[in-house]
Amino acid sequence: MAFISPEEINNIRSSVSIVDIISTYIPLNQRGKNYFGVCPFHEDHSPSMSVSSEKQMYKCFSCGAAGNVFTFIENYLNVSFGEAVSLVAEKAGISIKADFLPQKEVKNQKEYDLMALVLKIYQNNLNTEAGNKAIQYLNERKLEEDVRKDFDIGLALDDNILTKLLLKKDYSEKLLVDLGLLNNNDLKLHDVLKDRIVFPLHDLDGNVIGFTARCYLSDIKPKYLNTKETAIFKKGNILYNYHRAKDTIRLKKEVILVEGNMDAIRMYANGIKNVVALMGTSLTKEQIKALKKLRAKIVLMLDNDEAGEDATYRLGNILEKEAFEIQIVRLNGAKDPDEYILKYNAEAIIENIMHAGSFMDFKLNYLKKNKNLNSAVDLAEYIKTVIENLKSNPDEILKEVTLQKLSNDYNISYAVLKEQLKIDSKIKVKTEKNEEEKKKKTTYEKLANEILYFMMNDAEYIKLYQTRLGFFPTKKERMIASEILYYYNLYKTINLADFITYIATINLKKEIMDIIESVRIQELSDEAMIELLEKLKKKMEQEEIKCLKKELKNEFDPNKKMELAKKLVEIKKGSVKVESY
Ligand code: GTP
Ligand code: MN
Repeated sequence: MAFISPEEINNIRSSVSIVDIISTYIPLNQRGKNYFGVCPFHEDHSPSMSVSSEKQMYKCFSCGAAGNVFTFIENYLNVSFGEAVSLVAEKAGISIKADFLPQKEVKNQKEYDLMALVLKIYQNNLNTEAGNKAIQYLNERKLEEDVRKDFDIGLALDDNILTKLLLKKDYSEKLLVDLGLLNNNDLKLHDVLKDRIVFPLHDLDGNVIGFTARCYLSDIKPKYLNTKETAIFKKGNILYNYHRAKDTIRLKKEVILVEGNMDAIRMYANGIKNVVALMGTSLTKEQIKALKKLRAKIVLMLDNDEAGEDATYRLGNILEKEAFEIQIVRLNGAKDPDEYILKYNAEAIIENIMHAGSFMDFKLNYLKKNKNLNSAVDLAEYIKTVIENLKSNPDEILKEVTLQKLSNDYNISYAVLKEQLKIDSKIKVKTEKNEEEKKKKTTYEKLANEILYFMMNDAEYIKLYQTRLGFFPTKKERMIASEILYYYNLYKTINLADFITYIATINLKKEIMDIIESVRIQELSDEAMIELLEKLKKKMEQEEIKCLKKELKNEFDPNKKMELAKKLVEIKKGSVKVESY
């Protein structure tokens, strides 16, 4: 495995200015010591992100996003830590080993290489005589040579050619079976995919990890057969065409979400490149995460059948809860985007996308389905469902307009509708508050986090911690402190920008980033650190006193009672060190 030392990484980091790098992506203005820009990590229009050239850090005072030049590139361009380091090195004019790759990719390189080889074999099949019928099928579907090349379309033949070719090489049978390429049903190895047009499936970074294959000689079931889930292929983790489309999507700030791979291929081939396909109608947490990273509006354009309509409602609600901006396209006159483009043309579908409707308008229509609005019972149910749906919508104006519209369309008193929404909303506000409360940090956590934050910034604060506190009584904080001390002992110096690079490699990354993002103190000083340490000590004493009092209450042995009481008095006088809790 290629290796790049932490010193080398820190050298790369300090050879560039974070202000220069960030300002190539977002405009920054100088105000005092720091630079400010609109934070790209949350929906915002005012410059709440500050970039410090002194600390070589950025921090958003609205959403809390914070980090050094590498974390900025990682999150802004959605690349791995390794790629971020390579990119910054390139900008700094420092050459690093070309084979320096992020760990994840290195880990499965053997598997990726094998999948790429298999893809070549499938592609080659298409150009042999045995591929004539498949070529004919593809041409009939208007998937001509250029499209076939762009999407690496291939062919699986019936005569176990893959098995024969791969076994001649040195691959272990187990690997070939584990990757879903071959199976050994009757103690003999066979190709898994037979007589099918093959489309490679890529992970978000563009590695081939599996295949989806369509029947073409006759209409057999299943129409599409996927290679099985493997160590590298989890269907729920990918979106078809993501790796090709992601840059265009970021530029356009819009992603079109379709059902079928064929829809994505057709649109992409017709110049509508900001498209990804679900390969069905479900949407997993991982896929939502991948979509979030694109920071783009979502246009849902699912199939023109009832299943597509139901899925639009279902997925729309999920995406709305996840705070995505969404728009809906329902096509008329063709089954799906693929057929729509073939029947009309690309301009016609672009026209539909430009006039995409709101999810609210879609819902107002969708909820009418199977209801007879002339019936009072159905109408009441419809109105209640709409109001139920409005509850979760954060857009106050949209809520207002929708209520007005309902009132006008169905001749119902606006006041009654409003009252109904309020009743529901009150319940919602209450539960939201409870969740906020749960997330709120305790005084102890807040103080401890601030102290740890100081320690990551300067060795002076580590010394103050060592002489005035020395330990944290809680496990998480103790572990983070020992990471900081470990780093400091190793390098004999510490600053936040380099410490952030270091934590990319340790288990506590999430917990430490949470501290860096949540602490809002800007000016660090010895006095401020000492005050925090004193406050925390006081807090720890109070906790200890509380515990002792409880013990005292439950203790019946008079001797032990006496001992506890003595200890209590001493703590109150400040002469006893508190213990871990
Ligand atoms: P074409 O008939 O080739 O145009 O496919 P399509 O894109 O119109 O497919 P459809 O709308 O029927 O299904 C949408 C997506 O669901 C497909 O792209 C596949 O990824 C997936 N899919 C469809 N049928 C099957 C199936 O039988 N098995 C599996 N595993 N997936 C399927
Ligand atoms: Mn289709």
